[in-house]
Amino acid sequence: MTVSTMLNESGLTSSDVSGGNQMNKSKDKMDSHRINDNGPATNNGSSSNAQTLLHQQDQQTKNDYRHPQHQGAGTTRNTSRYHPDEWTATGPKIEKQMGEPVIVIDRLYKTYKIPGSDESVRALNDINLSSDSEFAPVRRGEFVILRGPSGGGKTSLLNILGTIDLASSGKIQILGEVIDEKSNDAYLSDLRLRRIGFVFQTFNLLATMSAFENVELPMTIRGKLSVKERKKRALELLTLVGLQDRVAHLPSELSGGEQQRVTIARALGNNPEI
Ligand SMILES: Nc1ncnc2c1ncn2[C@@H]1O[C@H](COP(=O)(O)OP(=O)(O)O)[C@@H](O)[C@H]1O
Ligand SMILES: [Mg+2]
Repeated sequence: MTVSTMLNESGLTSSDVSGGNQMNKSKDKMDSHRINDNGPATNNGSSSNAQTLLHQQDQQTKNDYRHPQHQGAGTTRNTSRYHPDEWTATGPKIEKQMGEPVIVIDRLYKTYKIPGSDESVRALNDINLSSDSEFAPVRRGEFVILRGPSGGGKTSLLNILGTIDLASSGKIQILGEVIDEKSNDAYLSDLRLRRIGFVFQTFNLLATMSAFENVELPMTIRGKLSVKERKKRALELLTLVGLQDRVAHLPSELSGGEQQRVTIARALGNNPEI
């Protein structure tokens, strides 16, 4: 199944969604790819026209001509970059089955009120990823990319999915846990701590804590690991992102890219499902 979402003038929307071949009708908007963890992302080659392709397993298995080295590994490579002689259509196929839905979205709207003014900005306009919409939920094992123009609503949607912000109306289900505009902060922060890894665009590292302490903090708050275990894990994660020589540095003593890598390590601390 291939589905597409497009962004209209008033924001990210899934209401004017069409099948894959009609995607060109939105000329300036959102483009994202959704692939199975073991499959290539593909698009229809229309690079200037914005689209969203949500590729699901049944779609991508038809096109599974990957280089043997890439079989079984998650990849977003477009296979057309490889010489045909390197492709295989017959080799042993390693299929990673996608699991249950982990992100379900139902009639999601986000409108920002501008303080001191009657004006408001609608960033999300009837977004749906559900079994009875044209868009299927995100399932466990899927790798999804959302891309689109600046101001198009990507961060608004990710903030809601990451439980950082609440929608104006509509509901989402994250790993089966229902979130709507009435969900309270304690519930959301607990869900986030246990099950979601979130990498902030603007880092949001604690300025007075070292890289190591920033990575350790969510594990400390969660309290599941012993002191020794979480210190070992913090060091492992910082090593994983190549920052083993910067563990004692404050965020202000790190480059932007290094800070971003600390936030990635921090996001992985509690082994999140999303
Ligand atoms: N806190 C806010 N208050 C008012 N408007 C906002 C706020 N955050 C985002 N917006 C507006 O919502 C729209 C979507 O923003 P955003 O989700 O950040 O887009 P993207 O991440 O795709 O660049 C933009 O028009 C932006 O100006
Ligand atoms: Mg953004």
